[in-house]
Amino acid sequence: MAHQTPHLAPIPELYVSYESAQKLKVEAGNLVSHDLTPRQICDLELLMNGGFNPLKGFLSEADYDSVVETMRTTDGALWPMPVTLDVTEAFAETVELGQDIALRDQEGVILATMTVTDKWVPNKSREAEMVFGADDSAHPAVNYLHNQAGNVYLGGPVTGIQQPVHYDFKARRDTPNELRAYFRKMGWQRIVAFQTRNPLHRAHQELTFRAAREAQANLLIHPVVGMTKPGDVDHFTRVRCYEAVLDKYPSSTTHLSLLNLAMRMGGPREALWHALIRRNHGLTHFIVGRDHAGPGNNSQGEDFYGPYDAQELVRRHQEEIGIEMVDFKHMVYVQEKAQYYPIDEVPEGSTVLNISGTELRRRLAEGIEIPDWFSFPEVVKELRRTKPPRAKQGFTVFFTGFSGSGKSTIANALMVKLMEMGGRPVTLLDGDIVRKNLSSELGFSKEHRDLNIRRIGYVASEITKNGGIAICAPIAPYATTRRAVREDVESFGAFIEVHVDTSIEECERRDRKGLYKLAREGKIKEFTGISDPYDVPETPELRVQTEGADVDNCAHQVILKLESMGLIKG
Ligand code: PPS
Repeated sequence: MAHQTPHLAPIPELYVSYESAQKLKVEAGNLVSHDLTPRQICDLELLMNGGFNPLKGFLSEADYDSVVETMRTTDGALWPMPVTLDVTEAFAETVELGQDIALRDQEGVILATMTVTDKWVPNKSREAEMVFGADDSAHPAVNYLHNQAGNVYLGGPVTGIQQPVHYDFKARRDTPNELRAYFRKMGWQRIVAFQTRNPLHRAHQELTFRAAREAQANLLIHPVVGMTKPGDVDHFTRVRCYEAVLDKYPSSTTHLSLLNLAMRMGGPREALWHALIRRNHGLTHFIVGRDHAGPGNNSQGEDFYGPYDAQELVRRHQEEIGIEMVDFKHMVYVQEKAQYYPIDEVPEGSTVLNISGTELRRRLAEGIEIPDWFSFPEVVKELRRTKPPRAKQGFTVFFTGFSGSGKSTIANALMVKLMEMGGRPVTLLDGDIVRKNLSSELGFSKEHRDLNIRRIGYVASEITKNGGIAICAPIAPYATTRRAVREDVESFGAFIEVHVDTSIEECERRDRKGLYKLAREGKIKEFTGISDPYDVPETPELRVQTEGADVDNCAHQVILKLESMGLIKG
């Protein structure tokens, strides 16, 4: 490929001048306000600072259709990822076309205004198929699309008032123009970016060294700190790890900068998007490795994308983007050479060592040694500080089942057994207790049940984060809500879903509280299992049968499960 010219002239931003911004802030007091979601804040920041150049706002309907179908906006610009402002139907009804709305962060601070030119109900399944390759909710972005994003999209140009506020790692965050200015100042002409959402280990260091050498370029370590894959190591820990590793790079040739991007885990399309974003940040080269921005397995347990699909797609478009791809195969450690090699360059007959992401998580979780050939002691120390071994972490046991299935009784028994063992505080969030203390105003509509469960999930995730044990025992009839709670909790510790599998006939026969009788008589409406749905958990961590087993035995089954997961020491 031809020599890359540096892209260091300033890039257009969407911000107005300081004076206009002050005026706009006041005027915006009269506008309808939309409170941005965390993902929308990330998108807006990159729209405003030029990271998403040439976009001038959230996509219009025509641009959206075109981006979904052809990876291009209607005027032909390459743009593979829909950047959309999703809102609820209720909010959409308050907005007329042509109207300006205020875009605010979660504290209500105004960041921008947007002139709404388009308002439409997207076909989310089509978006999922075309953009992410499958309408399969095992894909984090597809799950987000169906279960978190609002049902209406608003499109229109954005007028930037101010950047979202960040209190963390301020000095390490750069806008595209700040990075361009830095490269200019340093006289860097060829710069290769390394995109990452994981801590850096030795393989990554070797890969980045090789990439810089191959491209004869300076190196920008450009990790994503906006939103990554649910369950990833949090960005605070990661940045501390990057800072620790930075010492191992020659300081005059390497720079670390944080990118507040909300990833979609969209594989090939996402890799292309990343390349465009890096071009906007003034880079000339971009590293694409194996399974770039991969979302993990689909619901059949298979990969969503081929391991090198992302490289192929970026290769086809690198000329047009104006950034050169530096492609890498999977890096492995060759014992005899005491060195890392791309897997296709391993000398014949040598011993290859490799620790997968899953294996690394297992070693951290179980407190097992992590060899020096794999990572740096500073990085391992940081990871262990954030993630102590599982037996010391918080976790959540989430019972679900019909009313009267035995959830509360088993949950109580489990609590006592765990308290007998000691070591961690235990909190029981029983359905009835929660409805008294946290959700006293709620009824049993789907909306209210969801709210109730999300509240339980919120409390459980806080308990888990702080190293305690949360035991929850609501009916929790909806699978999508249980999944949302799982995601909340799993950012901090293990989530063990226990299906208390007592048949509805048996629950009705027991009818401890006399509610089934009332439900049959129609005196209680929307009663789960009688006149309201229950989604049977498909793959809970544990399913306990209560018919023919006593409470002690059921609670013991949970204890055994916790032991087998390393959460309690046997
Ligand atoms: S949910 O769906 O998870 O929010 O329900 P939950 O908070 O666990 O509350 C269930 C308890 O409320 C009583 N109850 C009902 N259950 C189901 N459907 C209807 N319509 C209903 N009305 C009242 C019932 O006693 C449940 O208690 P448990 O402990 O499950 O038997």
